[in-house]
Amino acid sequence: MHARAVAAVTTALLGTAALLSPVPSARAGDAAEPTVLAHRGASAYAPENTLAAIDKAAALGFTWVENDVQRTKDGRLVVIHDDSLRRTTDAAQVFPGRAPWKVKDFTAAEIARLDAGSWFSPSYAGTRVPTLAQYMRRVEHNHEKLLLEIKNPELYPGIERQILKQLGAGHWLDRGHLDRIIVQSFSADSLRIAHDLQPAVTTGYLGTPSVSSLRRYAGFTDLINPSVDSISADYVNTVHSFDGPHGRPLRVFTWTVNDALTTWKAVGYGVDGIITNKPDVVRAALRAS
Ligand code: G3P
Ligand code: CA
Repeated sequence: MHARAVAAVTTALLGTAALLSPVPSARAGDAAEPTVLAHRGASAYAPENTLAAIDKAAALGFTWVENDVQRTKDGRLVVIHDDSLRRTTDAAQVFPGRAPWKVKDFTAAEIARLDAGSWFSPSYAGTRVPTLAQYMRRVEHNHEKLLLEIKNPELYPGIERQILKQLGAGHWLDRGHLDRIIVQSFSADSLRIAHDLQPAVTTGYLGTPSVSSLRRYAGFTDLINPSVDSISADYVNTVHSFDGPHGRPLRVFTWTVNDALTTWKAVGYGVDGIITNKPDVVRAALRAS
């Protein structure tokens, strides 16, 4: 794909607004197509952060999946986005007296009883909140790669060490696996801890640090992963100008892009990855550009 062509298409589609604020070419010459990552799995088509969602991503032909990891009352790692069980499970029905149904207030055995699929569709009734161990086994089985988010680390002291220990026990920190895992977080402190504990692991900071702070971030993160609404081609270019802790230019995976127009916009910015609930839609847009 040629970035100038993409920028031209984007400009045409965005019309006057784009002319006032053009999307310049972010790359010199031909550039690699951005990696497409299935956000919380293929979460537009299956309940987020479940094994069904990563099976769906694999069935659609995608390799990279993203998830969110938190910790139960009894110290088990589970895959779920919100700090409460309420939105994506039937916890309020199964445990009516336990509002506000915080993940950290329930044991793994209690969470294993919950239905994490019916809220999405009756056809997913009985789908469970996976433990991280179950999830990693399925990622391996599906030959997938994982963008693992340490979610709400301030609620779970020591979770970085625990996650890395579990990844190591599952051989995810071996040579043959290190290029299949990225650890990301909105918390710079959490990410720095993870980097210090296992410097070989690729890391991603979720957010849009100021340009003046990028040199500091480049000390512990390999990627800057910003919201697509928060960036420009200039910003992405600037991020690319810094080398990360592994001596390679920082990369940019942006989120959450679920339509063709935004895909073209992101490509025009020169991002390296696109995180999406609808990976098939993003792929189609990339092929059409
Ligand atoms: O990977 C990007 C994205 O997951 C960040 O936001 O809230 O969906 O975890 P959120
Ligand atoms: Ca996430």
